Amino acid sequence: MTAPYRVFVTRVLPGSGFAELRDDPAFDLDVWPDDFPPPREALLERVDGVDGLICLITDRIDAAVLDAAGSQLKVVSQMAVGVDNVDVAACAARGIPVGNTPGVLTETTADIAWALILASARRIVEAAEYVKAGEWNTWAPTQMAGADVFGATLGVIGFGAIGQAVARRAQGFGMRVLCWNRTPRPDAAAALSAEERSLDAVLAESDFVSVNVALTDDTRGLINADAFERMRPGAILINTARGPIVDEEALVTALRDGQIGGAGLDVTAVEPLSMDSPLLTMKNVVVLPHIGSASMATRSKMADMAVANLRAGLSGQPLPNSVPTPASG
Ligand code: GLV
Repeated sequence: MTAPYRVFVTRVLPGSGFAELRDDPAFDLDVWPDDFPPPREALLERVDGVDGLICLITDRIDAAVLDAAGSQLKVVSQMAVGVDNVDVAACAARGIPVGNTPGVLTETTADIAWALILASARRIVEAAEYVKAGEWNTWAPTQMAGADVFGATLGVIGFGAIGQAVARRAQGFGMRVLCWNRTPRPDAAAALSAEERSLDAVLAESDFVSVNVALTDDTRGLINADAFERMRPGAILINTARGPIVDEEALVTALRDGQIGGAGLDVTAVEPLSMDSPLLTMKNVVVLPHIGSASMATRSKMADMAVANLRAGLSGQPLPNSVPTPASG
């Protein structure tokens, strides 16, 4: 019998695929048991000699990790759609495919963007805290009055699957939808009655700006001081993509100076967000702990896809879902 494949998994995963992998004698699984990610040193040690790796967005998978693993490493399978924590070019240079989990989390993540749109506009978190603090003494004409969502203008920055799913939900709220994508997507825009505009126009004309681009060298800091200057004074920024797409210092300044009206963030520049962050002192900011895809069903599907990518990579098959390598575009 051939030796089982050695695999390191950086956290215990949900889903039946992972349970089956654990029971499969063809795999020798090392699973990091903690609730926190393996520290760098532990990661470098545990990958030594593995054939496959299942990782999460909390793990930095760079050339040093690939070198620590060794030349037998056949696949890096990430349980997420975004792979900005993985050095895809370094993997490609070593002929290692990188798997990800697109599709299954699209609607779940769009739901969270909408939870943030509604929570920010209607001051839901602030109002719930007000009740819990015993401050609800009466009904008053402008008590907890926020902004209307129905009939407002939604700007979607990044019109891929998640951006489109965010836009689709806006139809039920009678919104005008503007969108921007680096590569224009006229068909998708037309299908959702969205207007494709320049990035500046989307920023300038939207009441809600939803960030839905992937984090790349091109999009890091895309929403910067300049962008905030263009936005409407009452506009609300929603980010469910990746924190570093927004220049967080510029965001704090824009909120402090009343340049924009509020923010709903599922992601921050550094995660977890420091308790010292000024964002946490602002009533018009809602911060969630990166839970865009966090429904049990979706997280289980993501884990199943990560396992399927791993299995394919180990047996030399094309991955069901792989990230394009920089060379193949
Ligand atoms: C989560 O953020 C993901 O990229 O799947």
